[in-house]
Amino acid sequence: MKTISYSQNLVHPVTLLSTSDGEHENIATMSWVSALSRKPPLLMVSVSPLRYSHDLLLRSREFAILVLSETQREMATLAGTLSGSHNQKWSLAPFKQAKKPAHQIKASLLRGCLATFECRLVNHLTAGDHTLFIGEVVNQEQNSQQNPLILFNRKYFSLGDFIEKYP
Ligand SMILES: Cc1cc2nc3c(=O)[nH]c(=O)nc-3n(C[C@H](O)[C@H](O)[C@H](O)COP(=O)(O)O)c2cc1C
Repeated sequence: MKTISYSQNLVHPVTLLSTSDGEHENIATMSWVSALSRKPPLLMVSVSPLRYSHDLLLRSREFAILVLSETQREMATLAGTLSGSHNQKWSLAPFKQAKKPAHQIKASLLRGCLATFECRLVNHLTAGDHTLFIGEVVNQEQNSQQNPLILFNRKYFSLGDFIEKYP
């Protein structure tokens, strides 16, 4: 059957998935990320089993989602094109300079993000060629001064004009 490429017609945030089992740590760009539930606060990230982050997340059972701001494009491209299987991405200059510890989990956070969610893994299931990881948010930080970096049609965008309030 022909593979349909549909995801480019959806609008996605650009985030980094930060994982650590205490011995190995990694960051990888993830756009298939969404809120799932308010009570408890759950979010999901869809990760291909081909990613180094995949098994690291399964082992560590905790992770952080770092929502990138429009000024952090370089990080999105670096963390989304290099693999942690061959690279220590946290030692690259842009990440090293902005690295900071989390409050509730081992994985590191990044200064300058729009928002940061520290999560404990509560469930995971196979979703076609990806694994859907569901995490409970145990700590969050937000910086309302930042604008999000947005992925649409395989390109990065910044936020457009304000139109009207959501009812
Ligand atoms: C903008 C962007 C969004 C991405 N979104 C995802 C995603 O949602 N899920 C996924 O498995 N890979 C995604 N990727 C690909 C991974 O980030 C990429 O394969 C990365 O090298 C994996 O790193 P790792 O092997 O260190 O885990 C994305 C890449 C980019 C550039």
